[in-house]
Amino acid sequence: MRTLKVNLDKKTLSSYEIRIGKGILDRVMLLIAKNHKAVRYVIVTDNNVNRLYGQTMQDGMERAGLKASVIEIPAGESSKNISVVMDVAGRLLAQGADRETMLVALGGGVVGDLTGFIASVYMRSVPYVQVPTTLIGQLDSAIGGKTAVDLPQGKNLLGTFYQPRAVFADVNFLDTLPDREFCNGLAEMIKYGIIEDENLFRRLEEDMDSVISRDPALLIKIIETCCRIKKSIVEIDEREHGLRRILNFGHTLGHALEAASEYKLSHGEGVALGMIAAARLSTMMNYLPVEESDRIKSVIAKAGLPTTIDAAFAADEVIRRFRADKKKKDDVIHFVLIKKIGMPFVNGSINEQQIGDVLEEMKA
Ligand SMILES: NC(=O)c1ccc[n+]([C@@H]2O[C@H](COP(=O)([O-])OP(=O)(O)OC[C@H]3O[C@@H](n4cnc5c(N)ncnc54)[C@H](O)[C@@H]3O)[C@@H](O)[C@H]2O)c1
Ligand SMILES: [Zn+2]
Repeated sequence: MRTLKVNLDKKTLSSYEIRIGKGILDRVMLLIAKNHKAVRYVIVTDNNVNRLYGQTMQDGMERAGLKASVIEIPAGESSKNISVVMDVAGRLLAQGADRETMLVALGGGVVGDLTGFIASVYMRSVPYVQVPTTLIGQLDSAIGGKTAVDLPQGKNLLGTFYQPRAVFADVNFLDTLPDREFCNGLAEMIKYGIIEDENLFRRLEEDMDSVISRDPALLIKIIETCCRIKKSIVEIDEREHGLRRILNFGHTLGHALEAASEYKLSHGEGVALGMIAAARLSTMMNYLPVEESDRIKSVIAKAGLPTTIDAAFAADEVIRRFRADKKKKDDVIHFVLIKKIGMPFVNGSINEQQIGDVLEEMKA
């Protein structure tokens, strides 16, 4: 089991450990019993994860002498909303959960974001731990303390910064993850290489086949590297005033493409295309040699993620969204570009024409 420490503000007690390994759940229960004492534990999970792991988790906690129960929500992004928050809060009350209760988020980013949000407001906050079961969860969403639910007007518009007490990532969970969900995580993995770590990027170029075959030893190493990158960025900029923005590499256009496809593109697929577009823009503006942006495109292809946009796709719609975002943000979109792999910077001068050109160039 590998351990990383996230060092945040000592006054608010928000530092915590991330543990990563294979088959670590029994030890995790003992760690929770020893280091994260509570009168009762409520596992919040979705119906898919509950069916696969809910009982195992609850039994494990009970074997470790902990009083545990489960609250299930429907799987999917549509559960990230305020009525599900109300519903879960009601069920917590009915189970007698008070401030001596700890929540356990068992699931992907949806369960993690929702449970973190509930933990931050239920009875003016209760502690929670993250047990991420998706690749996105293990290398991204479970770390950093951003919690949220969606509003009809957009994603993640209602949320808090609230750190978990610990994060426990067991790669065994990934065995049952559907391929498309696994691929979503690969897009974020590639992103970490591009924004921070050329060695990681090179390893992905060389070993993508083993990554795709879900080789556990390799996954543990890579997840640890990604967690280390995210944690060091969050340590410097917990509330996204500056540096944390580089984590949005590929996401500005990625989100617009995802939305413009009416979510036929998954998040990872949108981000993959967004990263290719950001690399091309970097090349167009003479920051990045063309060979480097080709390397990015080919590693994305190796991961089984898309590299071209459907010819029928309306670039106008993406540009319209870009324009709307720009209005919201005082006319400046902070676009993350790169000077080389491992060296990102924030640029505020990308215009619609350039975006239109890149999208045209990316059409199949
Ligand atoms: N807080 C952050 O910093 C942050 C960062 C990135 C993403 N997010 C959020 O995370 C969410 C996406 O997370 P996600 O991709 O994990 O999606 P998700 O939570 O919807 O999980 C994807 C699917 O996989 C299923 N699943 C989960 N674990 C499984 C397992 N081990 N075996 C089989 N099936 C399993 C789920 O039931 C679901 O159907 C979005 O809402 C996004 O906004 C948050
Ligand atoms: Zn993302």
